[in-house]
Amino acid sequence: MADYTIKVRRFQPESGQGPYWEEFNVDLEPSLSVLDGLLQAKDREDGSLAVRCSCRAAICGSCGMKIKASPGSAARPRSARPKKEPTRWHPRLAARPAATRS
Ligand code: FES
Repeated sequence: MADYTIKVRRFQPESGQGPYWEEFNVDLEPSLSVLDGLLQAKDREDGSLAVRCSCRAAICGSCGMKIKASPGSAARPRSARPKKEPTRWHPRLAARPAATRS
């Protein structure tokens, strides 16, 4: 197991405040995915964390998001990534304020 920090951009329109970043620490086998980390954070730290996924096998594309500024499937297994650099998760719609959504 290795420790990872996942940095998630969140937005709660009812709060009246803009989007913000929140960090979650997860323990993952290096062969697991960012999606596994997000689901672990949801289970262990914050049940309000919403993650869209379906196959969890990098087939359907349902979990598409930006990971370290690059678009891709969060379900794709990742090689070992040390804790020193947080992984940023950027959902497609939640990052924009409600007033600018189309
Ligand atoms: S859940 Fe199917 S590719 Fe991510």
